[in-house]
Amino acid sequence: AEHMHHAGSAAHAAHSQSSAQSVSCETLTAEDDDAPVREFEMTAAQTPIKLDNGEEVKAWTFNGLSPGPEIRVTEGERVVVKLRNKDIDAGVTIHWHGVVVPCSQDGVAGVTQDAVKPGEEFTYTFIASSPGSYWYHSHQMSSIQAEKGLLGSFIVEPKEAEYTAAQDVAVLMQKLGSTWILNGKTGGLAIPGNPGDTVRLRLTNTTDDTQKMVVEGAPYRIIALDGHAIHQPGILESTGFKIGAGQRFDLLIELPEQGKAVVRSEQNDHFNISLGQGAEPIRVASERQFSLTDYGAPLANDPIAEISFDQSFELKLGQNLFVNTINGQSFHEIPPILVKEGEEIRITVTNEGGGDHPFHIHGHRFRVLSKNGEPLKGSPVYLDTILTQDDESYELYLIADNPGLWMAHCHNLQHASMGMSMMLNYE
Ligand code: C2O
Ligand code: CU
Repeated sequence: AEHMHHAGSAAHAAHSQSSAQSVSCETLTAEDDDAPVREFEMTAAQTPIKLDNGEEVKAWTFNGLSPGPEIRVTEGERVVVKLRNKDIDAGVTIHWHGVVVPCSQDGVAGVTQDAVKPGEEFTYTFIASSPGSYWYHSHQMSSIQAEKGLLGSFIVEPKEAEYTAAQDVAVLMQKLGSTWILNGKTGGLAIPGNPGDTVRLRLTNTTDDTQKMVVEGAPYRIIALDGHAIHQPGILESTGFKIGAGQRFDLLIELPEQGKAVVRSEQNDHFNISLGQGAEPIRVASERQFSLTDYGAPLANDPIAEISFDQSFELKLGQNLFVNTINGQSFHEIPPILVKEGEEIRITVTNEGGGDHPFHIHGHRFRVLSKNGEPLKGSPVYLDTILTQDDESYELYLIADNPGLWMAHCHNLQHASMGMSMMLNYE
């Protein structure tokens, strides 16, 4: 009975402001300190957009744009974003995908705040404590509002760069209505550059689908996943990779002495990115697939050898034509993961087949310990969104260090809205 009570109250909390939890978001705001302040203003509005192929889209925008303005700050700065809603009737929020923020700033309508209605405003504030590639999107009816255009890049540059690059470009893969765009452009993106230049691409998949990519014409490295650096990333050639919905891959590409390098989508020419000058390379099929299980180098004296779990949870992701489930249940019924601050948690996520499920947890990053029972052999891998495909199982390690009420859901936002969503709550 006790267990059922918790399940009911958490599901309830996800949909309304009232909550029987002892931890609520309202009390958890960012502490004051002397961090330099970066202020931004964002106005959400209905805006007709004319794309470069002539198509007109009834978009929903931030500051008249979709994607919205790129927000780029430096590690350690305080970010202050004043959100206004001009005329989006259902209300809007901003969720900082992958950024570890206090719960009250997480931007989940019905959990951490009320949706911001037309004429209203809400100011978000948090410290950008961890460098990396992130993004933002409305989290009020996300499956509709993200596709309508309410999203953008959020980049935290490190105080001291680990890599030097002649160019550092964030690229948002986006489906706006029914059109595929890269940084707002149809028909692919061209990034100029000189032979021998190093380019850092921060590829972000804001669509609901897994994107299969390959780099042609240049060797490359994957230097970060979901914003978190890979330890000693090796050079890849003719190697494809899959970016799950919500995930980010940071690539470091050295432009060839002759001709272009191309980051090519294996599904969709609108997502091709050509870099540099001259002719495009000959199209190749990827000979290998990147795998996070053996990329980069393990840490010497990795403390992971010493971990012991306080609690373990199993999540089985299932899907049929009509419903998306976790452990056979849909959102309202799914008991939350209940943790105490300071606990070390193991979450095993298993895809029971029927589609790709990129599983996202708010407010935390987690470490991937194993895939299908095999421990990772390369670099430690920290993510906020794990792409699970047919019958795969991943063991995740999460330290409960950010009290509050947090969503955990499939980042195919259609699946999330059809039930594949739950809560991770602190007692
Ligand atoms: Cu980017 Cu709850 O999602
Ligand atoms: Cu899914």
